[in-house]
Amino acid sequence: MATPHIAAEKGDFAPAVLMPGDPRRAERIANLLMPDARKVSDVRGIGAYTGTVDGKPLSVMASGMGMPSLGIYANELFSQFDVRRIIRVGTAGGLAHKVKVGDVVVALGAHTDSAMNTTRIPGIHFSAVASYPLVAAAVAAAGSDTTIHVAPVVSRDHFYGNPAEQVQALADYGTLAVEMEAAGLYAIAAQYDREALAVLTISDHLLDHSQDMTAEEREHNFERALALAVAAAHC
Ligand code: HPA
Repeated sequence: MATPHIAAEKGDFAPAVLMPGDPRRAERIANLLMPDARKVSDVRGIGAYTGTVDGKPLSVMASGMGMPSLGIYANELFSQFDVRRIIRVGTAGGLAHKVKVGDVVVALGAHTDSAMNTTRIPGIHFSAVASYPLVAAAVAAAGSDTTIHVAPVVSRDHFYGNPAEQVQALADYGTLAVEMEAAGLYAIAAQYDREALAVLTISDHLLDHSQDMTAEEREHNFERALALAVAAAHC
C-alpha cells in the first residue's frame, strides 16, 4: 500500500535498503550494483530501486538532505514496507586532523544538535548508536585499510555555520566528521527495533578546504564506502 511519500507495495522493497542522500546517487548505485534493478517508487523525484546483488535482494533509495527528510523515508520504510535495515551511504565533512578527504568513516554513534533526538525521551540525552552486527560486517569488509575509520560523528541541523569552538570540542571528544542524517536514522531504527548504519566518505574538511571534492567528485567517490555498506546490508 502506498504511503504519502512512497508509491510502492509491501513486497517491492528488500529487507535491506542502501540510502544515499542524493537521488541521482541512488540511481547510480542501483545501476552499478544491480543489473536487474527496477524502479519501485518515484515520489518527489526520490527514486527507489530494488534488485539483487549476488542473488541477494537489495533496495536503494535516497533520503534527501537532513534528518527531517530522512526521517520521513526511514519511518515509512520501517513501518509500512517491512524494511529491516537501512544503511546510509553518504558524504561528511572531516572535523579532526585524523581524517582526510577521501577517507571513509563508519559512524559508530552520532551526536546531534537536533531537537528530533533531544525531545525523543523526555529527560534523557538519547545516544544514537549504530547496530553492532552492521558495524562488525563493515569493519570486516574494511580489512586493514587505515583510511577507513570507526568513530562517532555529529549530525547537525545546519550545513552552514559550524562554530569553531564546537568543532574543536567535538574533535577533542573523538568525533571525526559532520553530516546531517545519521543521528536521526539511528534513533528511528531504535524506535522500530530495526538496524542502521552510516558509512560516510569524507568529501571536504572543516580545518582545511584545499582538498574539498567538487560536486562532481562527490557523486563518484563513494565506491569504497559502498563496498562496506553492501557487506553490512547482507551480513
Ligand atoms: N557539514 C559540513 N560538511 C559536509 C557535510 C556537512 O553536513 N556533509 C558533507 N560535507
